[in-house]
Amino acid sequence: MSNLDRTSYEMPDEYRYTGFNTDGTPKKYYLRTYGCQMNEHDTEVMAGLLQGMGYVPTDSQEESDVILFNTCAVRENAEDKVFGEIGRLRPLKQRNPELVLGLCGCMAQEQGVQKMVLEKFPWVDVVFGTHNIDRLPALLAEARTSQATVMEVWDKAAETVEDMPKARKDNVRAWVNIQYGCNKFCTYCIVPYTRGRERSRQPEDIVQEVRQLVADGFKEITLLGQNVNDYGVDLGTSSFAKLLREVNDIPGIDRIRFTTSNPWNFSDDLIAAIAECEHVVEHVHLPVQSGNNEILKRMNRSHTREYYLQLVKKIRAAIPGVSLTTDIIVGFPGETEEQFEDTVSLVREVQFDNAFTFIYSPRENTPAARFEDTLTLDEKKQRLYRLNEAQAEVCLKRNQDLKGEVVDVLVEGASKTNAQVLSGRTRTNRLILFPGSIDLRGQHVQVEITHPQTFLLKGRMVTREEEVS
Ligand code: SAH
Ligand code: SF4
Ligand code: F3S
Repeated sequence: MSNLDRTSYEMPDEYRYTGFNTDGTPKKYYLRTYGCQMNEHDTEVMAGLLQGMGYVPTDSQEESDVILFNTCAVRENAEDKVFGEIGRLRPLKQRNPELVLGLCGCMAQEQGVQKMVLEKFPWVDVVFGTHNIDRLPALLAEARTSQATVMEVWDKAAETVEDMPKARKDNVRAWVNIQYGCNKFCTYCIVPYTRGRERSRQPEDIVQEVRQLVADGFKEITLLGQNVNDYGVDLGTSSFAKLLREVNDIPGIDRIRFTTSNPWNFSDDLIAAIAECEHVVEHVHLPVQSGNNEILKRMNRSHTREYYLQLVKKIRAAIPGVSLTTDIIVGFPGETEEQFEDTVSLVREVQFDNAFTFIYSPRENTPAARFEDTLTLDEKKQRLYRLNEAQAEVCLKRNQDLKGEVVDVLVEGASKTNAQVLSGRTRTNRLILFPGSIDLRGQHVQVEITHPQTFLLKGRMVTREEEVS
């Protein structure tokens, strides 16, 4: 397959109305998502396909005609949860044999999981992979008539399928895929096996999708890829910096975010593009994974501690007020106390605005799963705790430094606990709570930071954006 192979999706006629009962009422689906934003967005595509057939969503598994689990394979605990859920659904499936129960997403790509489903969870009706999403209507039809579990999992994508219907969860913020897959093969990571090789979407297709989202009133676009700074390398005609500039130029565009960028290949041109594009926010998620060079090498990360620190310096110099967040793994096989301390010292040195920290989890068929593990789970938990303590201290200090500042906030909705309090995000992706009316959802407001906390800010609205100038 060449990266240029693309096709435009059209729902086959025979499935168009399969989401209706014989009495004309719509069938119901329950769709649960685990994992990253890419998976969340795949769920929006599946919801779009189901709604295109006539189905409507439900929160009740009991009432569902179709239950799908869109799964994540990145760590073992995510997988355990899914198996638990599927186990609990056996009685429901026995009571309602018409129910179609499906497992899809990254776990479906693992041979061990496929085998496990066939052997231990035969009441699952359909298993399909990350490259087979567009086949959902046909697979549901097959699952309805087949006695055995229907399984369709391709190792790689046959082509890029454009124009898939999407039922987006939100009407303020939207995800847009720019690249699928990953070529990096970090030794701990399963993603290159579950998502295949890197494939960039054509820039015209991306720009067209964003234009439509802007026309539909979306305020924040997040460009998605596992390794966005490699965007366009396979096309030969584009680059991520070029794409950012093109998206930034779309008339009416508001905020542009992107995730995830890899520290390797983070070019000066990309830094310049982020700095000069006014709609691209001042936030870079830059997973470091470890602060120790020997561990980084065994992780097959291409960067060193020194390279990373240098990159942070360049980004901070070029983009005033930029927020830097990261991902870190503790307890990688063989990680010594000193090597772990290097990670803690890096956290203090860089002063990340936030960090997502994980205990290493061995993954099927990845090289690191064969490395010798010298630590007990307790030791790993201790390290995670110590790292989190260090990062929490940094988070609080970084947030306290913002006290008294007035920041631009895009209102996302009411806070979880109080309908009179709004929640929103700063351009730097900080969560901020402040009193206000829900009518402001989807609008920009200016908020003074009055009470900074470790993981969130509290403030008071100063003025609406249009009143500022
Ligand atoms: N493409 C992104 C990361 C995607 S996975 C990048 O390279 O930056 C998200 C995060 O999960 C990773 O950054 C890593 O910190 C964590 N992760 C991946 N595999 C893991 C494993 N086997 N055990 C624990 N954490 C893992
Ligand atoms: Fe996994 Fe590394 Fe690819 Fe990120 S860059 S998805 S951590 S293999
Ligand atoms: Fe998980 Fe797959 Fe995303 S493994 S993190 S859902 S790419």
